[in-house]
Amino acid sequence: MRRNYEGLPAKNFTISSLTLKGLCVMRRLVVGITGASGVVYGTRMVEALLASGHEVHLVVSEPAVVVATHELGWDFQAGVVETCRREIAGGDTGTLRVYENHEIWAPPASGSFPVGGMVVIPCSMSTLSGIAHGSSNNLIERAADVMLKEKRLLVLVPRETPLNVIHLRNMLSLAEMGVSIVPAMPGFYHQPRTVDDMVSFVVGKVMDILALENRLFKRYEGGA
Ligand SMILES: Cc1cc2nc3c(=O)[nH]c(=O)nc-3n(C[C@H](O)[C@H](O)[C@H](O)COP(=O)(O)O)c2cc1C
Repeated sequence: MRRNYEGLPAKNFTISSLTLKGLCVMRRLVVGITGASGVVYGTRMVEALLASGHEVHLVVSEPAVVVATHELGWDFQAGVVETCRREIAGGDTGTLRVYENHEIWAPPASGSFPVGGMVVIPCSMSTLSGIAHGSSNNLIERAADVMLKEKRLLVLVPRETPLNVIHLRNMLSLAEMGVSIVPAMPGFYHQPRTVDDMVSFVVGKVMDILALENRLFKRYEGGA
């Protein structure tokens, strides 16, 4: 064995197949889109992750379909999976897998399915509560439960206003468990001109938490 000057095993800088496997796992993420207002945050998130070379396992709740129809004018006649594949990333969906929330048998439901982390965006108060209480009643809640038990990265982007004490308590208990709570609260210091700019700001903040380089918003550089 090679040793360094302290007599400790020398660091191996060659990329082993295990390291490569680890890198691939980090490149695989789960995204949940729930029925909170702002489904566009979720679709932009998936697009940003696909554009940065990730394999995305997207889970869409039934209420999210209702909200997407209302807010984005999506026509789900072709089915949830087909519609999401068509509408997201302009059909360039080579590394996108889409599941409905009742598909509790899907890979993200298992801790033995290696993933780098999970983002629920937008996250309804209902799903937030389910995750906080370990309900695992559907695929999004179960996948989030897996993140918690496997000590993996979990980011929730709640959208509701005003917040009641139950919402706030649930968010606190999740934060205490190490979950990142990134409310859909766009800033204004980057001087957004369009709704798109405001959406990109929130998605950019999530990308920052995932430690993914992005230029989704203009960063503050000081000034009066
Ligand atoms: C148009 C529309 C907008 C909604 N917006 C929100 C919202 O911003 N936040 C929220 O917590 N629930 C919102 N809801 C209610 C959720 O859809 C509802 O609680 C649902 O049960 C959430 O289920 P899910 O978490 O499985 O998607 C909205 C519902 C509709 C129809």
